[in-house]
Amino acid sequence: MKLFKVATAFFAAVKSVWTRGNPFAALTALWPTNEEGKYVIQAEGIRLAFTNHGAALTNLWINDTRGEELDIVLGLDDPNGYPKMSSNPWLNGVIGRYAGYMSGPSYQVDDTLYNVTGNAHNGTALFNGGDAGWGRQTWDIAAHIDNSITFVLFDRMWNGFPGVFASCLTHTVTPYQWRIAFGVTPLRRHGPINLSQQAFFNLDGFRANNSTQTIFEHTLHLPSAGLRFAVDEFGIPTGDLLSNKKGQEHDFWSSGRRIGTAGYDETLHLSHKQHANKEDSPVAILSSAHSGITMKLFTDQDALHVHTWDRQHGALQLKKGQGDGDVPQYGAVSLDITDWPDGVNHPEWRNRQTLWGMDGLYTSFVTYEFSVNGQEQEKNRI
Ligand SMILES: *[C@@H]1O[C@H](CO)[C@@H](O)[C@H](O)[C@H]1NC(C)=O
Ligand SMILES: *[C@@H]1O[C@H](CO)[C@@H](O)[C@H](O)[C@H]1NC(C)=O
Ligand SMILES: *[C@@H]1O[C@H](CO)[C@@H](O)[C@H](O)[C@H]1NC(C)=O
Ligand SMILES: *[C@@H]1O[C@H](CO)[C@@H](O)[C@H](O)[C@H]1NC(C)=O
Ligand SMILES: *[C@@H]1O[C@H](CO)[C@@H](O)[C@H](O)[C@H]1NC(C)=O
Ligand SMILES: *[C@@H]1O[C@H](CO)[C@@H](O)[C@H](O)[C@H]1NC(C)=O
Repeated sequence: MKLFKVATAFFAAVKSVWTRGNPFAALTALWPTNEEGKYVIQAEGIRLAFTNHGAALTNLWINDTRGEELDIVLGLDDPNGYPKMSSNPWLNGVIGRYAGYMSGPSYQVDDTLYNVTGNAHNGTALFNGGDAGWGRQTWDIAAHIDNSITFVLFDRMWNGFPGVFASCLTHTVTPYQWRIAFGVTPLRRHGPINLSQQAFFNLDGFRANNSTQTIFEHTLHLPSAGLRFAVDEFGIPTGDLLSNKKGQEHDFWSSGRRIGTAGYDETLHLSHKQHANKEDSPVAILSSAHSGITMKLFTDQDALHVHTWDRQHGALQLKKGQGDGDVPQYGAVSLDITDWPDGVNHPEWRNRQTLWGMDGLYTSFVTYEFSVNGQEQEKNRI
C-alpha cells in the first residue's frame, strides 16, 4: 500500500501547486528513453516499456520456461505511430475519463443535466471518454525511476465534461509484478470517472507454432465472475445483469478452461468475497502451457472487460521481436478492470459511487503477478 500513499500525497501536492498550465510539460522531455524512444521500467524477471502517447504500454518482456525472453503484449515498435492510430484508446493506452459506453450522452447531477460530446451510436452515446478521451492524449511524465513511472494529465473540459480533472497514473514493477495505481482529483466541478488500462496479452509472445499463435489454448479462470452486464444490439449496457450459467459459454468461474475460438467482448461482474483483502484474491488467472507463463490479476474494481483481439478493427503488424506478419484474429486478450458499466445513468444500482467531487480523490488499482512453470514468486507487494 505504500505506493498508493505516495501517489495520494503526490497528487495532493499537484492539486495545491496547480493553477493554470501544466507544471510537468517541461519535465517530460528530460527523462531517458531506450533506443526506440520508449520509457523502460524493470525489476527482477520483468521489464516494461511505455510511450507517453496515450500513456500506452508498448512492451512487456518476461522469460518463458525455456529461459527465452518473450514480449507478451501487443504494441508498436515506433512510439510515434501511436497518435496516428484511429482506435480509442490508442493500442494499450489508458481508458478514460470514462471507460466503456455512457448512454446519453449526458448525465445528471442534482437538477443539472450535463451534455457531453458523443462519439458513438450516431453521437447519442459516449465511448471511452469521447474522441478526445485520455487514451488519445499525449501525457506528461512527472517522475521516472528504475522501476516506476508516473504519467500526469490535466483534462480541461474535453469532450464537453465540465470542470478540470487532474489525473495521475503510476506504474511500478517489483520482482515478477506490475502494478498500476490511478488517482484523479476533480477540480472545480464533480463528474463521472471510470478509468482503465488496456493491455492485450499473448502469453506465448507469438513465438509459438501454429496452434498457439492465437489465445485459443490459453487457460482463463475468473473465480468471481458469475454475472455479466447485458447490452443492447449496439453494445450499450441496458442496466440488467445476466448469469453465467455453469458449463455454458460464459462460465469461466467454476474452473479454469481454454478460451477457445468464440471471441469475447463482455463486461463481467466481479463479486469480491466479503471482507476479503482484494490484494490477496485474484479476479483473473490467465496461463499458457506452451510458454509456462501464468498471470494473476488483482483489483479493487467491481467489473472486468474481457476482450479478444479482433482484426475487424484493422490489421496490426507484430513487433520485430515477435515475428513477421500480422497479429492473427483472436491473437491476444485484454482484461480491463472497470467499474459497473454506465453506472452514472443507472441510479437503480443503489449506493454505488459514480461521481467524484473536489472533496474526493478517485483511486483504483490493478496488479498483474507473473509466474513461470507454476513457480510462485515470493510475494513482494507494494
Ligand atoms: C531473461 O534472462 C536473461 C538471462 O538470464 C536476463 O538477462 C534477462 O534480464 C531476463 N529477462 C527478464 C525480462 O527478466
Ligand atoms: C443539456 O441539454 C439539454 C437539452 O438540450 C438542455 O436543456 C440543458 O440545458 C443542457 N445542459 C447544460 C448543462 O448545458
Ligand atoms: C446511425 O444512424 C443510421 C441512419 O439513421 C442507422 O441506420 C444506424 O443504425 C445508426 N447507427 C447506430 C449505431 O445507431
Ligand atoms: C500455419 O501452418 C500452415 C500450414 O503449414 C501455414 O500455411 C500457415 O501459414 C501457418 N500459419 C501461421 C500463422 O504460422
Ligand atoms: C506446437 O506446439 C504444441 C504445444 O506446445 C506442441 O505440442 C507441438 O508439438 C508443436 N508442434 C510443432 C510442429 O512444433
Ligand atoms: C467503466 O469502464 C468499463 C469498460 O472499460 C465499462 O464496461 C463500464 O461501463 C464503466 N463503468 C461505469 C460505472 O461506467
